[in-house]
Amino acid sequence: MASCRRLSFSLSLVLLLHLRAAAGDSPAPDLPRSELAAIFRVMADLLGDPSWPQLHPRPCTDTPWPGLQCELSPDDARVLRATRLHFGPDVSTPPCKPGARLDTDALRGLPHLKTLSLFACFATGNGHTDIHEEIGGMASLTILDLSWNNLDGGVPAAVGKLRRLQKLDLSYNHLAGVLPPELGSLQDLVFLDLSHNRFTGPLPGSLSCLSKLQYLLLQDNPLGTAVPAAVVGALRRLQVLGLSGCGLTGPIPRGAFAALASLTALSLDRNRLDGPIPATLAALPHLGQLNLSQNRLAGEIALPGEFVARLGRRLDVRGNDELCVGRGLQGRSGYLLGAPPCADRRSGGDGSPAERSGAAAVDGGGGRWGYRYGSVGVWHVFVLSLVFQL
Ligand SMILES: *[C@@H]1O[C@H](CO)[C@@H](O)[C@H](O)[C@H]1NC(C)=O
Repeated sequence: MASCRRLSFSLSLVLLLHLRAAAGDSPAPDLPRSELAAIFRVMADLLGDPSWPQLHPRPCTDTPWPGLQCELSPDDARVLRATRLHFGPDVSTPPCKPGARLDTDALRGLPHLKTLSLFACFATGNGHTDIHEEIGGMASLTILDLSWNNLDGGVPAAVGKLRRLQKLDLSYNHLAGVLPPELGSLQDLVFLDLSHNRFTGPLPGSLSCLSKLQYLLLQDNPLGTAVPAAVVGALRRLQVLGLSGCGLTGPIPRGAFAALASLTALSLDRNRLDGPIPATLAALPHLGQLNLSQNRLAGEIALPGEFVARLGRRLDVRGNDELCVGRGLQGRSGYLLGAPPCADRRSGGDGSPAERSGAAAVDGGGGRWGYRYGSVGVWHVFVLSLVFQL
């Protein structure tokens, strides 16, 4: 309640100052020289258009540019601040000049930036661009988006200094290495997208401190670990978790996601996960999308029929050769899973995919029978060959 009151107070203050400015009591607010110089420098670095300063001498007011936003300073009505800088195909084509660099030195002249978004800016560049340590000096940032940029190198530990960050998007780059534990200091982070890079595992345990995180997108990185249950299992506000194509191995731990009561979408497709599908996944009250396709999951699908029917085609278990549908799920909802009935497996015996893996035997369900049949077959051949040798 108290914070709501403070907000409305400061809003009316801004309004009042606006009116005073309009009435001519004070000169129209403007950007400090240092920030204007920094903007000209950033534009020269990124756009490479020498006429930009002439076309936009007062870029916050009379001669605006769509990628730049300014706000009135909260403590001085004569001062504007550059608070949002965005480059992307929506504001200029091409978004940045070929060979543009991420010059964090110039950006440091814009200390009030809350949003920095350089989307697809360096995509056509020649040569390499990394994220410099100096980015940690941009302490006002709440949104940092450097996606689709051909960035390489790693994520500098200094990113952990951006304590106000709520959204960090570094997706679709060539960033590599392990993630710095300092990312766990970003206590206000709600959205973290590191997908489509070359990050390797393990994930730093400190990520479990991101108590406000709602979106964690890590798909298409060669993490190569087990399901990071200890890290993601603690993120209670998580709504969307993307771990597709991360080279994950081993089983899906039974209670791995049990605490994620807000989870709506879970993607674990295109990994090398084995073992059964834990029925506990169906207990997540808001889960509406579950992709487990293209793994090595095995055994009888033990998900409740009600859950399978509710998700419909948003439950994807295709491409797991050793899964089968038990009696309880047969009928319409079982059909949607695309896996064969377990009964076929049992009578099928040899040749069924179930006998290819010992994992199926451990899981119980349909796989066990196939495996037994399979080993009986192998035993037969072995005995016969002994007989023939004698
Ligand atoms: C599940 O993932 C696979 C592989 O990435 C993809 O082809 C499929 O469209 C996804 N299924 C759903 C329902 O989104």
